[in-house]
Amino acid sequence: MKSPQIRQKFLDYFEKNGHTVVPSSSLIPAEDPTLLFANAGMNQFKDAFLGTEKRTYTRATSIQKCVRAGGKHNDLDQVGFTARHLTFFEMMGNFSFGDYFKTEAIAFAWEFLTKNMGLDGEKLYPSVFTEDDDSYDLWAKIVPAERITRLGAEHNFWSMGDTGPCGPCTEIYFDRGSEIGCKQKSCAPGCECDRFTEIWNLVFMQYNRDEDGNQNPLKQTGVDTGMGFERLVMVMQDKESVYDTDVFAPLITKIEALSGKDYDASDDEARAAFRVLCDHVRSASLLIADGCTP
Ligand code: SER
Repeated sequence: MKSPQIRQKFLDYFEKNGHTVVPSSSLIPAEDPTLLFANAGMNQFKDAFLGTEKRTYTRATSIQKCVRAGGKHNDLDQVGFTARHLTFFEMMGNFSFGDYFKTEAIAFAWEFLTKNMGLDGEKLYPSVFTEDDDSYDLWAKIVPAERITRLGAEHNFWSMGDTGPCGPCTEIYFDRGSEIGCKQKSCAPGCECDRFTEIWNLVFMQYNRDEDGNQNPLKQTGVDTGMGFERLVMVMQDKESVYDTDVFAPLITKIEALSGKDYDASDDEARAAFRVLCDHVRSASLLIADGCTP
């Protein structure tokens, strides 16, 4: 499936399920001094999660432009050297503001991946926050218990920054096969290698963290999901890395023309350089397009 079709199917699926399609916000956050660049789909809905802004809808879906190159969520150092990291990426998300919670969020994600995307459910491995028995029980009705991993706050508790809305999350990993990654027997979701690739993060917004680190319960719970568009495309197109998908093909071709080097025939170091160029040129171009002055 080509990448534009994947974007459209995502928005269509959630629109059909009662979500309002909301355009991506700018990469430069509006009136939010806690953020340098938009780093997640939920940024533009921060006040809706906090309950300080009422919208005409309680369910939304978007494909958000994100840059993670500094601050709390920083992927810069991994870029080029893993199959999956990017500084600029598109985050596909569905959101609930005091509407549905864990049951529906998990059911939507499972249905979209296995039915609409046609992914093999046996390759999907959920992780849940150590203390979140509700999510564990919900997943246990869908996949065998041995495919569910409990992980600590580092992986399965999400917050936008040092302050703001936050909560436990459940992540969906795709097993790309034992021939990929660290090849250790112990390799499992949460391992840093590329075998189990996290494709979707479902956050259950429950708290507002203040400057003293207190987690104050929100007036209403919410759902904030984020799926890495380029990662889903990689899995759908069965490619070695996000850079080998149709999303990056024009950039690779251009760099080949400018450098006189062949990406496929290059050694690991040169391929990493290709990937860094692809990534940085996208981030820089999209930031400039949104009004950032280098
Ligand atoms: N906000 C969460 C994340 O960025 C889920 O969308 O991973």
